[in-house]
Amino acid sequence: MPTTPVAADAGDLPSRLPFEILRDPRAMRARAEDLRRDGLRIAVVPTMGSLHDGHLSLLRAARARADVVILTLFVNPTQFGPSEDLARYPRDEDGDLAKARRCGADIAFVPEVPTMYAAGAQTFIEVRELARPLCGEKRPGHFAGVATVVTKLFNLTQPHVAFFGEKDFQQLAVIRRMVRDLDQGVEIVGMPIVREPDGLAMSSRNAYLSPDERTQALALSHGLAAAEAAFTAGERDAAALLAAATASIAAAPAARIDYLELRDADELTPVDRVTRPAVLAMAVFVGRTRLIDNRVLRP
Ligand code: PAF
Repeated sequence: MPTTPVAADAGDLPSRLPFEILRDPRAMRARAEDLRRDGLRIAVVPTMGSLHDGHLSLLRAARARADVVILTLFVNPTQFGPSEDLARYPRDEDGDLAKARRCGADIAFVPEVPTMYAAGAQTFIEVRELARPLCGEKRPGHFAGVATVVTKLFNLTQPHVAFFGEKDFQQLAVIRRMVRDLDQGVEIVGMPIVREPDGLAMSSRNAYLSPDERTQALALSHGLAAAEAAFTAGERDAAALLAAATASIAAAPAARIDYLELRDADELTPVDRVTRPAVLAMAVFVGRTRLIDNRVLRP
């Protein structure tokens, strides 16, 4: 499919190779093997598309760290539950390809579902403890879907280094542990959350919000800020920090907490008092849209 031509702008990063779109997993794998044979360092940025500035920050970081940058665009069905938003997940392939070129991607890998999951596919990767709480508890099977597709994308793109956003804090922890436990030999780089000027964490799902919900979605970042203010003032008790966040979120009538927890930043185990880095992690429904956000509190 032809890509939309995009004018260069001041922030553009040059691709090093002619931009390519690959759809066939076997072609992707063969291309990656050639690149490796040529001694090139490969970075991959796995995404589900509908790219926003958070994704673009991953692409730019990848551009700075590798010879070849591969962006993957694949809305992975195995990480969605039966009542979740797979069918309506925002898709904008032409726009994504234009942004990918502008931010220095060399290859866009855009597979179709049937080529990624052959009929009868029945192998899944389970990361146990780290994948159990938080989004794992609320979205059963989600992290098995993520771990499996990320492994498949690593197999097909053969990266030396891969970039993920810290907004999906638990996902990043799960992927790091999987890579370590399975000796996958890929360096995992986590990149800071990119926020709108008013503080809302960028997310493809923000597109679902009505104007009023968009305003009320600030409940998440305000909740984090309230807990952080208490923490900075010396509060270390988890219940008190969570209460500060809860009170702030409650000010938005359209916001309903799915979970709000303080957990050890490495093991995601519950904490009563913050004595080492802890993550305040939340999922909040704003209307029908489920948003996540987090902040690490470091004593
Ligand atoms: O973070 C995402 O967009 C997805 O979970 C990922 C890592 C691309 C796997 O489908």
